[in-house]
Amino acid sequence: MTELTDGTVLVTGAGSGIGAAIAHAVAVAGAAVAVNDIDPAAATATADAVTAGGGTAYPVPGDVADPATAGGVVTAARERLGGLTGLVNNVGVVRAAPLRSIDAAGWDAVMRIDCASALYCAQAALPALTGGGAVVNIASLCGIHPAPGAGAYNAAKAAVITLTQQMALEWGVDGIRVNAVAPGIVSGTNFSASSRDPAAAARRGHAVPLGRTGAAQDIAPVVVFLLSDAARYMTGQVLAVDGGLGVALQTLLPT
Ligand SMILES: NC(=O)c1ccc[n+]([C@@H]2O[C@H](COP(=O)([O-])OP(=O)(O)OC[C@H]3O[C@@H](n4cnc5c(N)ncnc54)[C@H](O)[C@@H]3O)[C@@H](O)[C@H]2O)c1
Repeated sequence: MTELTDGTVLVTGAGSGIGAAIAHAVAVAGAAVAVNDIDPAAATATADAVTAGGGTAYPVPGDVADPATAGGVVTAARERLGGLTGLVNNVGVVRAAPLRSIDAAGWDAVMRIDCASALYCAQAALPALTGGGAVVNIASLCGIHPAPGAGAYNAAKAAVITLTQQMALEWGVDGIRVNAVAPGIVSGTNFSASSRDPAAAARRGHAVPLGRTGAAQDIAPVVVFLLSDAARYMTGQVLAVDGGLGVALQTLLPT
C-alpha cells in the first residue's frame, strides 16, 4: 500500500506539468504539500487546485536555483507544513543550444536550475529530513541517453543521477533515503515546444515500446512510491518511467 498519511512534502517547480501532478498525487496519498514555483501565480493555482480536491496545500513561491532563496523556500515549507518528511526536486528547464555555441552564462544557468537547485533544497531540508525523510530527484532519460541539441541539459540531468547516488551514500547514516525518477518523453507540460504539441506527441509515441508518450500523471505515482514506506529499503536508485524508450535502441537498426 502506497500511503503518505501524516506526511509533509515540498515539491519544487509544481506550478505546472509533472510537479503539479506530483503535488496532487502526494495530497491524494494523504500528505500535506508545499507547492513551490518561480511563478507565484502558478504555485498558488496548483495549491488551490489541490485544496479544492480535498487535499492540504500551501504555495511557497521562489527561485530555488538561488541558494538563499532555496533556503527560504524550504524554511517556509517547514513552517507552513509543521515539518518536512519529503522533498521532491522537480524543477527543470531545457535550453536548446549546441555545445559548439553555448556560452558560459547559458551553461551555468542550466547547471544551476537543473542540478544545483536540488542540492540547495536538499541541504536546507537536511535537518528536517533526518531520521526517516525521503528525497526524490526528477532526473531524465536524457541523463542516460542524451537527446540531440540539448547538451547542457543532458549533462545536468546526468549530474542529477550521480548527485542522487552521492546523497544516498552520504545521508543513509542520517536515515534519509534519496532516489531519482527519470521520465522519458512527457507530453502535455510546458517544458518544450514538443511537450506542448499534441501532433509531436502522436509522432513520437510510435518510437516508444508502450506506443505513446507519457503524461505527467504517469510519473507522479512512482514518485509517491519512492517517498512512501513501501520503498523503505531503497536508496540511491534511478527508476526510468519511460514506456520502455530507454531499452528501444536496437529498434533503430535496419533488419
Ligand atoms: N516533459 C518532459 O518530457 C520531461 C522529460 C524528462 C524529464 N523532465 C523533467 O521533469 C521536470 C518537470 O518538467 P515539466 O515537463 O513538468 O516542465 P514544466 O515546464 O511544465 O514545469 C517546470 C516548472 O518549474 C518551474 N521552474 C522553473 N525554474 C524554476 C526555479 N528556478 N525555481 C522554481 N521553479 C522553477 C516552472 O515555472 C514550471 O512551472 C523537469 O525537471 C524536467 O527536466 C521532463
